[in-house]
Amino acid sequence: MSEPHLPADEVARLHRRAAELLPLGSLLQDGDDMPAAWTEALDALAERLGQSYPFADPQYLGQMLKPPHPVAWAGYAMAMLLNSNNHAFDGGPATAHLEREAVDQIAQMLHQETHLSHLTASGTIANLEALWVARSLHPDKVVLSGAQAHYTHARISEVVGAQHETVPATGHGTLDLAALEERLQAGGVGTVVATLGSTGLGMVDRVDRVADLCQQYDARLHVDAAYGGFFALLADGGTPGVERAPFAALGRADSIAIDPHKHGLQPYGCGCIIFRDPDVGRLYKHDSPYTYFTSDDLHPGEISLECSRSGASAAALWATLRALPLTRGGLGSHLAGARSAALRLAERIRGLDGWTLVLDPDLDIVCWHRTGTTASGVSAATDVAYDRLAERGWHVAKLSVSAEDLHLDADQPTVMVLRTTLMKPEHAGVVDALADTLAELT
Ligand SMILES: Cc1ncc(COP(=O)(O)O)c(C=O)c1O
Repeated sequence: MSEPHLPADEVARLHRRAAELLPLGSLLQDGDDMPAAWTEALDALAERLGQSYPFADPQYLGQMLKPPHPVAWAGYAMAMLLNSNNHAFDGGPATAHLEREAVDQIAQMLHQETHLSHLTASGTIANLEALWVARSLHPDKVVLSGAQAHYTHARISEVVGAQHETVPATGHGTLDLAALEERLQAGGVGTVVATLGSTGLGMVDRVDRVADLCQQYDARLHVDAAYGGFFALLADGGTPGVERAPFAALGRADSIAIDPHKHGLQPYGCGCIIFRDPDVGRLYKHDSPYTYFTSDDLHPGEISLECSRSGASAAALWATLRALPLTRGGLGSHLAGARSAALRLAERIRGLDGWTLVLDPDLDIVCWHRTGTTASGVSAATDVAYDRLAERGWHVAKLSVSAEDLHLDADQPTVMVLRTTLMKPEHAGVVDALADTLAELT
């Protein structure tokens, strides 16, 4: 594996940004006269940050990573000059209102009309709140999530003291509906987790069908849309598009986790949880004799598990949504770029000799491998291809999947494939070059 390092021009830019930012000082004072130790500290930091993969570059298509939108980072930096705390209106009088407005826009995008919602530190915490509410409402019942769901659901169930079981996935990487129904029929299920954009393969569960089953068997439905939720902007029948039905059914979910720090162009530290029934707010009731004096409105801290939360996160999100509204032509244009890049790459790989596409992408994650017969042979070829791509400047990722699902000789149970997350619209400009590189490698 190659050592992470930014290209020299990006390191130079980090040094320049350091020189530009420090003199901005604080809200009360410009920082004209900086002690040498402060500038030295930021220069040393620029060098250390140079030991990163180039997340901003289109040739980085590995993990779910990209720098935030310029409006988001500028908005975050501005609000950091105050460093408000969205625990309560006392600590974040401006930013707590911005949070409400921003989460309401996200809830409307996901067809949640009346809702109780707030930002969280991450998708993990958003899912934790959902499963905590689920366990509080059905303390003796089981939480079900799919084999392809994020590992967090099993672990969070443990944290909140809920029983958890895993439902098998189909060969298509989604929740197996027949297996789900069979388990629901057996009884004792309180909550089903559907995934809208799985972390590994980026596949979308049939939320509409899962919602029907939850209704029939009286279970709650939680949708983990941490990765794929913002693709709702493309679920309108337009081109490029995504399957409409799972997104149209989001209004039937009891709760939804979505991560603005993934496809919402935000810096890390920005997840979001949405509950359809505002009455679940009663479960959060607690005494805090130190806060909640400045407003009779429900303070964000009264309806969230976290106490201190960054007001700057809310400010950055609010400003981004003002610049790029939640429409196909606004933030949707970023998702459309990502989706188009994924469709194009999948089409190119399908046409290449010697390479096999794992699945047609539902969103913007594309996985493939060298054509082969055995799981061990294909895995070894993945390792070689990964290194060859890295030598040519391509940063991709790997994913372990079931050998049986890929119809390979299962001389080992799992097989390693190559995985790319095409989150940046700029990927559309490089996927043909990537496919050409793959053709060369054969
Ligand atoms: C589907 C899904 N759920 C949950 C998470 C966890 O979110 P976070 O990393 O923001 O805690 C991820 C992260 O990749 C994810 O893809």
